[in-house]
Amino acid sequence: MPIVTIDDREIEVPDGTTILNAARMIGPDVSPPAMCYYSKLKVSGGKCRTCLVEVSAGSTKDPRPMPKLVASCSTPIMDGMIVKNTTSERVLDARNGVVEYLLMNHPLDCPICDQAGECHLQDLSYEHGLEKTRFEFERRTFEPVDIGEHIKLHMNRCILCYRCVNTADQITDKRVHGVLGRGDHAEISTYIENVVDNDFSGNVIDVCPVGALTDKTFRFKSRVWFTRPMDAHRNCDKCSGRAAVWLFGDEVLRVTGRKDQWGEVEDTPEGNSGFICNTCRYDKKSLADWTVEGPRYIDRHSVISQNHYELEPAEQPKSLK
Ligand code: SF4
Ligand code: FES
Repeated sequence: MPIVTIDDREIEVPDGTTILNAARMIGPDVSPPAMCYYSKLKVSGGKCRTCLVEVSAGSTKDPRPMPKLVASCSTPIMDGMIVKNTTSERVLDARNGVVEYLLMNHPLDCPICDQAGECHLQDLSYEHGLEKTRFEFERRTFEPVDIGEHIKLHMNRCILCYRCVNTADQITDKRVHGVLGRGDHAEISTYIENVVDNDFSGNVIDVCPVGALTDKTFRFKSRVWFTRPMDAHRNCDKCSGRAAVWLFGDEVLRVTGRKDQWGEVEDTPEGNSGFICNTCRYDKKSLADWTVEGPRYIDRHSVISQNHYELEPAEQPKSLK
């Protein structure tokens, strides 16, 4: 099996593994950020450029460096490859530029955005962004629109990562939304408004890395860090019925898929898809609908864990791991 070195740490990985997934196998400290790649989707990545890395040696056979930075989510590793992520000044400089570009048209509305506290763009801009904008032109602006009964689209916040489009392609019968227009005119849209309606359409909310697609049943109800995420399950004939319920007291404010450390909806222990159906997401808002397993582990660096009620993974009972 090929061996790759990423930020001075070596790992042996299966053939065909991408640099990003090899880095994830080593751990979060060497993993590049990924705003468009989503491992649970058959097609994703190659859009946002946040995952750029430097390849300082291509392989044992051909140890020449790659002249340009490469997208780690779509570049397979070669035996003997040497990759620099946070140890490369070029990468950090490019990532700062990519973040500035992503924020060019993005509103600074974190104080009223439902995604605040669990927004990957917010984290990324905190780590890489400038403190002020250099953009002097008028920003692109759109009115928020309803796309379906339960989903609100805030196109101002969209970074055109295509995750929602690929998700709809993969897990719904018929995709009715997509990216219309090119370049500065590109936007997520439905051909006819109000038609995103499918048993699994709510998962586009879970895969959106920013607050562009929000759950209308949860909007403006609470900041996420005031809620308590719990692992819970129910018997469901459409999906696995495994979800995270977000409680305020005994009230279920929202239901989402269970996300892993990369912010992706995790598979079930049996290896099936963990994407949940709209019935579980929107219609089961009573605690009596759910069997609560216990607090969901939230990483200490997330603002959601500020109350520190959850256990570290090593201390958790087996059912919570
Ligand atoms: S709406 Fe969200 S998931 Fe869809 S392309 Fe925009 S940022 Fe990505
Ligand atoms: S995660 Fe690789 S280009 Fe977006």
